[in-house]
Amino acid sequence: MVIMQRLLNKVALITGGASGIGHGIARKFAQEGADIIISDIFLRSPDEVEKIKAELKSEIKSFGRDALILKVDVTNSDQVQEMVKQSIEKFNKIDILINNAGIMPPSALRSITHIKEEDWKRILDVNLNGVFLCSKYVAKKMIKQKDKSNPNKIRGRIISMSSVEGRQGQPLMGPYCVSKSGVISLTQTLAKELGSKHILVNAICPGLVKTPLLGPLADMYLDEKVLNDQFKLVPIIDRYALPEDIAKMATFLASDESSYITGQAINVCGGMQFY
Ligand SMILES: NC(=O)c1ccc[n+]([C@@H]2O[C@H](COP(=O)([O-])OP(=O)(O)OC[C@H]3O[C@@H](n4cnc5c(N)ncnc54)[C@H](O)[C@@H]3O)[C@@H](O)[C@H]2O)c1
Repeated sequence: MVIMQRLLNKVALITGGASGIGHGIARKFAQEGADIIISDIFLRSPDEVEKIKAELKSEIKSFGRDALILKVDVTNSDQVQEMVKQSIEKFNKIDILINNAGIMPPSALRSITHIKEEDWKRILDVNLNGVFLCSKYVAKKMIKQKDKSNPNKIRGRIISMSSVEGRQGQPLMGPYCVSKSGVISLTQTLAKELGSKHILVNAICPGLVKTPLLGPLADMYLDEKVLNDQFKLVPIIDRYALPEDIAKMATFLASDESSYITGQAINVCGGMQFY
């Protein structure tokens, strides 16, 4: 049986790709034939950065694809510009940008009246300003990736991780909800600004995905069993998502199968939310 690789010879840059959803997307894209740039601040293991970078590289190579692993803070403009420069130097192009890096620190799970100003600012900086910076500098390169023999060919795709929490405010999650709502608005703006340049821009809105980021929320629900019980309320699927569930949507949005879709924010939430 011949297996079609939907991203064959594409180059994908995935921010926050060392963990959770981003890591799941990196693996899936490599399986689908893409070369991968993983950029991450490597928050969780500062002492082990080189070891983790080597492991990620060899994992991508095990799928037969090339990899570039970079330590980047998406809130730092100089580092983002250097990330784009090094990516182009290695692969000559960036076909797909996945704006995935995001945080929800436990200390920020507070009401607006009690949240620390620095928590508010940091969440907006990583979850929204990081998407702005990476989109700005990658889109500039994508615009130049015009195929002169086929000017209508898609030059790039930008896919950003929003959340169902970007659809409405939630108590104790103010800055997170605001940041993810901002990602949807930024997606719509970019889709309109870049449409004539043949760059497609979409967002994914996951529900609850089993990743390290869920830690504080899992604590709020006391333990994993209780967390699972919450999902009995979900009308369609009685489990939380895995990174692979989100990676499947990212693959669709990165592939030719979604050639007429732009400016959309698509829920992947097992029916948690219908709008
Ligand atoms: N897990 C969920 O339930 C869920 C639901 C909806 C949306 N999301 C979104 O999906 C994305 C991925 O989340 P996840 O659940 O995989 O979390 P995760 O914590 O497993 O992964 C996030 C990654 O982002 C990196 N990162 C953090 N700050 C960074 C920075 N300043 N620069 C570069 N990298 C940075 C971290 O080191 C980490 O590797 C986030 O944007 C998150 O908000 C997650």
